[in-house]
Amino acid sequence: MANVTLKNVVKKYDSKTIINDVSLEIKDKEFLVLVGSSGCGKSTILRMIAGLEDITSGEIYIGDKCVNNVHPKDRDIAFVFQSYALYPHMSVYENIAFPLKMRNFKKDEIDKKVKEAAEILNLTEYLDRKPKQLSGGQRQRVALGRAIVRSPKVFLMDEPLSNLDAKLRVQMRSEIKKLHEKLQTTFIYVTHDQTEALTMGDRIVVLDKGVIQQVDEPEKIYYEPANVFVGGFLGSPSMNFIECSVEDGNIKFNDYVISLSDNQKALIGSRTRVIVGIRPEKMDLLDNNYEFTVPVDISEMLGSEKIVYFNVNNAKCSAKVDAQKQFDDNIILRFNTNDFLFFDVDTQKRI
Ligand SMILES: Nc1ncnc2c1ncn2[C@@H]1O[C@H](COP(=O)(O)OP(=O)(O)OP(=O)(O)O)[C@@H](O)[C@H]1O
Ligand SMILES: [Mg+2]
Repeated sequence: MANVTLKNVVKKYDSKTIINDVSLEIKDKEFLVLVGSSGCGKSTILRMIAGLEDITSGEIYIGDKCVNNVHPKDRDIAFVFQSYALYPHMSVYENIAFPLKMRNFKKDEIDKKVKEAAEILNLTEYLDRKPKQLSGGQRQRVALGRAIVRSPKVFLMDEPLSNLDAKLRVQMRSEIKKLHEKLQTTFIYVTHDQTEALTMGDRIVVLDKGVIQQVDEPEKIYYEPANVFVGGFLGSPSMNFIECSVEDGNIKFNDYVISLSDNQKALIGSRTRVIVGIRPEKMDLLDNNYEFTVPVDISEMLGSEKIVYFNVNNAKCSAKVDAQKQFDDNIILRFNTNDFLFFDVDTQKRI
């Protein structure tokens, strides 16, 4: 058990800054998810915490101890990678026992720990099998077993589910959450999958190009994004961003004039342009105060709902509507202006 602290951490490769002044406090026993698009620096941050990568400047603490100069094997951390490379010639038991054997644990101690881990991960009946006789999810659980037998202070997981099919991912998602509850240990979990981030994290860190954009609980990240990037990154389809000119407290969606509330006017202040953010699922509401008709570009059937694509003020937009909603070339969309978020055109920050 330990908290992990990053203070002004910078990582450069040659002269290129990959991680730009990242400061972060991860609480003891927290499940923290690091999310961001490919190449934004998620793995680099994990690898620096693990000590597999030097840091260019800044400090990393595990508990109260600065670990900048502590060897990876002495950091008391377990790392589960995306490609979990089990030893194919070893049984499940031997795979899980391996890290303990390397650390010269006694045989009966190893046996106890391996059996405990197998119990937690529902692997007891597979202990004699070889990895190739297991499903993807079972193999992933063996990799987790190998990490938990050491009872590390901190678990680092780098996209551990990305090799699994969709159904198994959903199942393993809740298994990892349960594991976290059982072990009561700090987890730092990297993913580029926004659903994983929203469902698993106690808190989420959204990263873009090596810079932290927001650190918050999932609800806050989703409903109160700090900026256009965060609003656009989480949610599927992405939030609609509609740039509008503001005149006398009114904005326009195509030709439809929309009056903003006094609070909203105060928020926008003297700005003459603003970006309105509205989620696709907020475009087909019963308790609406506006409706407007737009030509439909295309629509996609998703089962219980349809995604409809259209243009507002030349911005590509989408709405999530009931699958049985009737429309032809045009669709009537109903929204409530209370669901609007406003972003500054220049800074892209939420106002
Ligand atoms: N050894 C290296 N030398 C130079 N650049 C590197 C090195 N390792 C990583 N990078 C660069 O650092 C950036 C961040 O890489 P990182 O692996 O942390 O991204 P990521 O967020 O984990 O992406 P992904 O989701 O694709 O795994 C990338 O642009 C990558 O090309
Ligand atoms: Mg990565």
